[in-house]
This record gives sequence, C-alpha cells and structure tokens, in this order.
Amino acid sequence: MEKFIFVAFLDVMLASLSMFQPVICSSNFIDQVALLHFKSAINIDLTNTIKGGNWTIEANFCEWIGVICSNRTQRVTTLNLLYMGLHGRLSPYLGNLSFLASLDLSNNSFYGRIPIEIGQLRRLKELILEINQFEGNIPPNLIQCQNLEVISLTVNRLMGGIPREFGTFPKLQLLYLDLNPLRGQIPSFLGNISTLQFISLCSANLTGSIPLTLFNSMKHEDLMPLELGSIVLSILELGLECSKDLPEERMAMKTIMVKLNKIKLSLP
Ligand SMILES: *[C@@H]1O[C@H](CO)[C@@H](O)[C@H](O)[C@H]1NC(C)=O
Ligand SMILES: *[C@@H]1O[C@H](CO)[C@@H](O)[C@H](O)[C@H]1NC(C)=O
Ligand SMILES: *[C@@H]1O[C@H](CO)[C@@H](O)[C@H](O)[C@H]1NC(C)=O
Ligand SMILES: *[C@@H]1O[C@H](CO)[C@@H](O)[C@H](O)[C@H]1NC(C)=O
Ligand SMILES: *[C@@H]1O[C@H](CO)[C@@H](O)[C@H](O)[C@H]1NC(C)=O
Ligand SMILES: *[C@@H]1O[C@H](CO)[C@@H](O)[C@H](O)[C@H]1NC(C)=O
Repeated sequence: MEKFIFVAFLDVMLASLSMFQPVICSSNFIDQVALLHFKSAINIDLTNTIKGGNWTIEANFCEWIGVICSNRTQRVTTLNLLYMGLHGRLSPYLGNLSFLASLDLSNNSFYGRIPIEIGQLRRLKELILEINQFEGNIPPNLIQCQNLEVISLTVNRLMGGIPREFGTFPKLQLLYLDLNPLRGQIPSFLGNISTLQFISLCSANLTGSIPLTLFNSMKHEDLMPLELGSIVLSILELGLECSKDLPEERMAMKTIMVKLNKIKLSLP
C-alpha cells in the first residue's frame, strides 16, 4: 500500500513539472491497480501462482506471470492465464487495461457475468474465455471492441441469443460459441460480417437453418467447414471438396448450400 501512495505522489510531482512523460507513469499505475483488482476477485488459485506471491507489488507487474507489456509504453498488452485453476469473478477493472490486445483465460473456473467493461478495450483483438462458467447474456457492447478478430466463448453457461450488434464487427474472423445454452435462431446478420472465416455453433442450442447470408460475404478461398452439431463430418468432407486449389475445381456456393440443407434434413 505504501508503494501505491508513493507512486501516486511521484506521479503528481512529475505531472506538475510537466516533464518525464507523466502520462505514461499514471497509466502504468492504472494497469497495476487493474491487475491487483483482477487478482483480488479470484478466490481460489489452485496453483497458488497469482495469489501465492508471483503477483506482488515488489515486482514490476510487467514481469508477473501471464502478463506481457509493450516494451515502449510499459502498458499491459497481453493477459494470458490458461489452465491455471483460477476460480472467481472477472473484475470490471479489466476494462481499464486500455492497451490490452489479447485476453486468454481458457480453462479456469471464472463465473458470473462477462463484465461489460470489456467493451472499453478498443485495442482488443482476441477475447478467449472458453471453458469457464460464465453466465448471463453475451454483452452486446463487445461491439465497441472494433479491433476484435477472435472471440471464443465455447463451453460456458451463456444464455440468450447472439447480439444483433455482432453483425457489424469490422474485423471479426473467428467466432466460437459452442456448448452454451443459448437460444433462438442462427441469426442471419452474421452474414454481414465480411471478414468472418469460421464460425462454430456446435451444441449452442440454436435452431433454424443456416442462413444463406452467412455465405454471402465469404470468399471461396476463405471457406472453412461450418460446424453444426452432428453434421460436422459431412461438412468436413464438403470442406475438402471446396478447398481445391483451382477455382474451377471448387464447388459453387449454391451447390454447397443445397448439400448442407440435404444433410440437415437427413438428421432425425
Ligand atoms: C513470476 O513468474 C515469472 C515467470 O515464471 C518469473 O519470470 C518472475 O520472476 C516471477 N516473479 C516473482 C516475483 O516471483
Ligand atoms: C522487449 O524487450 C525484451 C528484453 O529487452 C526482449 O527480449 C523482447 O524481444 C522485446 N519485445 C519486443 C516486442 O520488442
Ligand atoms: C477502473 O475501473 C473501475 C471499475 O470499472 C473504476 O471504478 C475505476 O475508477 C477505474 N479507474 C481507475 C483509474 O482505476
Ligand atoms: C482443464 O484443465 C484441467 C486442469 O486444470 C484439466 O484437468 C482439464 O482436462 C482441462 N479441460 C480441458 C477441456 O482442456
Ligand atoms: C434451448 O432453447 C429453447 C428455446 O429456443 C429453450 O426452450 C430450451 O430451454 C433451451 N435449452 C437449453 C438446454 O438451454
Ligand atoms: C446487413 O447489412 C445491410 C446493410 O448495412 C442491412 O441493410 C441489413 O439489414 C443487414 N442484415 C441483417 C440481417 O442485419
């Protein structure tokens, strides 16, 4: 705590002298506070890494396990804590890590809602929260993270539909929502994401047919197998057929859609 006060005080001094890049100093402080809040919202740490002494204010937070900073700005750009046995809520203070580009908390036991404050992370490219126990709706304001390229929320307890706002992601390439108790139709607005290369909705409790618009924007060479429950294998076969090198050897989009619909109709 003493160190905090000291850093804050130093920061005020530097600011009043208006030199030595005071902005960077105070932003560093914001990142440290955010990470400490993230730490204190974790109530069980099975490997005892974060709670047990690696994340201490005696060390520079850029050297804490799972944290990567930009060398230039000394701001947190990556927070990767996979398979750590962490159990707790996700602190809304994460939204203050304004340089964060990659957040990967795969396979822990985070629960509660995905904090809407994540929507403040304008530089975020990857949001990977798969294999946790997040519940509630998928926050529609994630659309404010306009640089998002990868979203994986696979294996959680998320409910509701895919937010309509998601149709306007400018850079989204991969969207994984498998194994969530969502509900409703597979939304056609997903077809409006022109950068989308792969979408995975296995066991996501979505109904209806695959909207044709989903393929409108995909270029032939970008086409990846579209997973949908038990038809995955058939789709993979289709995928092989459409991944031929020569364009004239590839199947036309319309043919693929007809085949997909036949597979779907053949399901019990
Ligand atoms: C925390 O772990 C990282 C990676 O293993 C290590 O480089 C660092 O020195 C550790 N910090 C402390 C304070 O133990
Ligand atoms: C940051 O600095 C470290 C140590 O000086 C270096 O190993 C690393 O490659 C640098 N990272 C980048 C992205 O420049
Ligand atoms: C960081 O985020 C929290 C919660 O979202 C907020 O209350 C706090 O004022 C923010 N700012 C700083 C500088 O920590
Ligand atoms: C998740 O991690 C645990 C260990 O913490 C491991 O036993 C389990 O197999 C992992 N689950 C998946 C789906 O990878
Ligand atoms: C699946 O969605 C339907 C409505 O679309 C709902 O009635 C049902 O409870 C959902 N199932 C699960 C497991 O969430
Ligand atoms: C897709 O985008 C177009 C043009 O912005 C819009 O008119 C249309 O309603 C969108 N489709 C869906 C299903 O949201």
